Amino acid sequence: MTGMRILVTGAAGFIGGHVTDALRAAGHDVTGLDSLHPMAHRATRLPDGVRRGDVRDAATVADALAGVDVVVHQAAVVGMGVDLADLPEYVGSNDLGTAVLLAGMARAGTRRLVLASSMVVYGEGAYTCPEHGAVPPAERTAADLAAGHFEARCPACAAVLEPGEVDEDAPLRPRSVYAATKAAQEHLAAAWAGASGGSAVALRYHNVYGPGMPRDTPYSGVAAIFRSALETGRAPRVFEDGGQRRDFVHVTDVAAANVAAVSDTGGGGGFRAYNVCSGHPTTVGAMAGILAAAMAGPEPVVTGQFRAGDVRHVVASPARARRDLGFAAAVVPDEGIRGFATAALRD
Ligand code: UD1
Repeated sequence: MTGMRILVTGAAGFIGGHVTDALRAAGHDVTGLDSLHPMAHRATRLPDGVRRGDVRDAATVADALAGVDVVVHQAAVVGMGVDLADLPEYVGSNDLGTAVLLAGMARAGTRRLVLASSMVVYGEGAYTCPEHGAVPPAERTAADLAAGHFEARCPACAAVLEPGEVDEDAPLRPRSVYAATKAAQEHLAAAWAGASGGSAVALRYHNVYGPGMPRDTPYSGVAAIFRSALETGRAPRVFEDGGQRRDFVHVTDVAAANVAAVSDTGGGGGFRAYNVCSGHPTTVGAMAGILAAAMAGPEPVVTGQFRAGDVRHVVASPARARRDLGFAAAVVPDEGIRGFATAALRD
């Protein structure tokens, strides 16, 4: 379906900007809203068709929703946070903001929501124990990590677990403030859809990278951190043993998933969630190697350091998004990461 009127929140951001462009290219009439939150933006210029405003403000939201068919909600404070002092800002921007938006949609009669969610809602990925089958892994202990034992263990017998693919029915086990706010957004969207008869599609983005990604900040993903290091002649510093698995998904594919979700009318009302991933998992060490080679930089250094609370492996099946939304990623990470070596970043 083309020609719908769409409001994109967070439209000046890295992902929101690509989503806005892709929706316009697909023939939709898009307006954007963005608060230019200082945790995400150094620049104060807004892209064309994007107005400044905060989703926490009911009057701003009411104004922005006039005549809108679908809301694509990308506005959020992202990343791991620096410390717990950030907690109110995460909950305010992400959960209060979503609540104000959903209340505004109920008032305005806007019945469709596409929500930017994240694989962080799962916590750890899926694992099986040779003895006990599918199990949630035990928390990795400080002693194991300090001894360089990074693989997750079975909570029943401490055997090393085999990682697998996480699917959308996996329980949500958020492990950080950011993850908790993303899980809460999903729950709020589901409650809104149930009570209003509307439809909410949550897109659980995996590790997004691509042109316009913010440079090295406390809120950046690892691809931008490695890219920033290599640009100044420094080696990427790979934590743990580099064997941790992720699915790096290109931002143009994330934008395409949003276009597919907006165009999807097959699901009726209610809440649905989809993994948005490339379907080609890789290790952080391999990604660092590809980027370093593409930038003719120093070889990555595997430091053995680790971050408290990091998950070991989280990779997913792209099958459900393909089946229901007709979305399949076009960019294979090996090629996408090579292209990322020369992509423009956002200051
Ligand atoms: C990231 C995001 C999370 C987001 C999710 C899905 C951050 C900080 N984390 O989680 O908010 O929802 O992707 O898109 O934005 N690593 C290194 N060297 C470094 C930095 C990180 O080896 O200098 C390793 C980490 O230990 C981890 C992996 O790279 O194993 C990925 O880290 P990161 O990019 O922060 O992503 P996630 O933790 O997967």
